[in-house]
Amino acid sequence: MRVDVVSIFPEYLAPLDLSLIGRARAAGTLRLAVHDLRSWTHDVHRTVDDTPYGGGPGMVMRPEPWGEALDALAPAELAPDGVTLPRLLVPSPAGEPFTQAMAHELAAESHLLFACGRYEGIDQRVLDHAATRMRVTEVSLGDYVLFGGEVAVLVILEAVTRLLPGVLGNAGSLDEESHAHGLLEAPMYTKPATWRGHEVPEVLRSGDHGRIARWRRDEALTRTAARRPDLLAALDPASLDKRDRAA
Ligand code: ADE
Repeated sequence: MRVDVVSIFPEYLAPLDLSLIGRARAAGTLRLAVHDLRSWTHDVHRTVDDTPYGGGPGMVMRPEPWGEALDALAPAELAPDGVTLPRLLVPSPAGEPFTQAMAHELAAESHLLFACGRYEGIDQRVLDHAATRMRVTEVSLGDYVLFGGEVAVLVILEAVTRLLPGVLGNAGSLDEESHAHGLLEAPMYTKPATWRGHEVPEVLRSGDHGRIARWRRDEALTRTAARRPDLLAALDPASLDKRDRAA
């Protein structure tokens, strides 16, 4: 997968050299480039923002540098049919919620382009113009406001990269984890069996795979009901068996 990130703070994306994302980059699974938006400015001050039309606090990112950046990274002439153009993602608290389902959808793309806004956001015309030639998605991490899109890109790329083939050593863990089946994951334990007076649940030491699976399923349901009733309400009733309903 190819990924381009445009930001006025490229250093913010430095953690993308580390850990499993760094390894995916070294292996070529992830071809990632971070670009400084200011390299597409032409004035001595390398200006990227200005006051909002209509008034109000803060500054808005000017369209010109963004237009040039997107022209350079997603050249329209390469793909008049739009097929090989990247998917443009713009992190914003006004975007659609980022979910595990969206992570799966993005992991199937061949090229992602992230535009990191700062201040009060990017002039809307940049997104409207980009939408004439590529798929544009404004995406939100949650109902809170960050300084800018950079941290959101770190989060989204981590969620997406771990879904790319060959990145996780044990692909089975993708199947068990929270959100894989619309439920939160059951608690996990490792050795020692007793620690500071707290025991690992007996069932997990029983070796009885049927009982263990049932216990994990019950714990997942109980946790989800307590912490995320919205997830439970959204479950397809057909995915619940008789014992789930009893739980
Ligand atoms: N930029 C600012 N706040 C954000 C949020 N909640 N999600 C994604 N990008 C953002």
